[in-house]
Amino acid sequence: MEIIVKETVEEMSKVAARVVAHTLNAKPNAVLGLATGSTPLGLYQELVRMHKEENLDFSQVTTFNLDEYVGLTQKHPQSYHYFMHENLFKHINIPKQNIYIPSGTTDNYAAFCNWYEQRIRECGGVDLQILGIGSDGHIAFNEPTSSLGSRTRIKTLARQTIEDNARFFDTREQVPIYAITMGVGTILEAHKIILLANGEKKADAVAAAIEGPVTSMITASALQLHKDTMFIVDRPAAGKLTMLDYYEWIQAKMPNAP
Ligand code: GLP
Repeated sequence: MEIIVKETVEEMSKVAARVVAHTLNAKPNAVLGLATGSTPLGLYQELVRMHKEENLDFSQVTTFNLDEYVGLTQKHPQSYHYFMHENLFKHINIPKQNIYIPSGTTDNYAAFCNWYEQRIRECGGVDLQILGIGSDGHIAFNEPTSSLGSRTRIKTLARQTIEDNARFFDTREQVPIYAITMGVGTILEAHKIILLANGEKKADAVAAAIEGPVTSMITASALQLHKDTMFIVDRPAAGKLTMLDYYEWIQAKMPNAP
């Protein structure tokens, strides 16, 4: 695992955008796994800027989003379909047919989940997966005790997640109870993963994911099993890492490594 600590959210977002741009420059038809939430907003803004000012090209890119709330239509302002369209897709040149987001309104979730997994495989797998982290340590909507081998499926949200996400809805009662989410096993098959986290509120989850035991109680800890994962976090989110000095030492010494 590589752990990069940046002073600000802006710097964190720029480092992540550079990783995405590097991936697209090396493979213009790359498959990106995308996340929602407030954390990747700066990354998406930077990608839009790079597209407009530096011709970063998305014309051959395919994307798979991690998750969606069950019961929200694509036009619902809190749906992840809406979020992705507003914050990224409508500003870049990605073909509509290359965008995949789990459906929150299908009439057959089991069949949809199988199809989603199959489409990821048919597209050659995810080259670069972007992740945020929930305050309970979840990735996508893989709540505590999700199997570390889980695949795309329906998940019942934890109370903590409903509380955390209530800020986006008028009332707590409006927050959906179920979500459709890629599994931990699905996520671990991505070739490269970057997890972003900012703010003091994420410090416990980040420390548990990086330095704690691998456990389904903190599904982000499963990333310790992945061969190419990068955590890019701001300083408040890094606040509970006991080996922080070492991670910064590694970054400082990396340019001269043999
Ligand atoms: C939701 C999403 C996650 C995201 C998390 C954190 O639960 N399903 O993918 O990482 O929220 O959100 P935020 O970035 O707003 O803190």
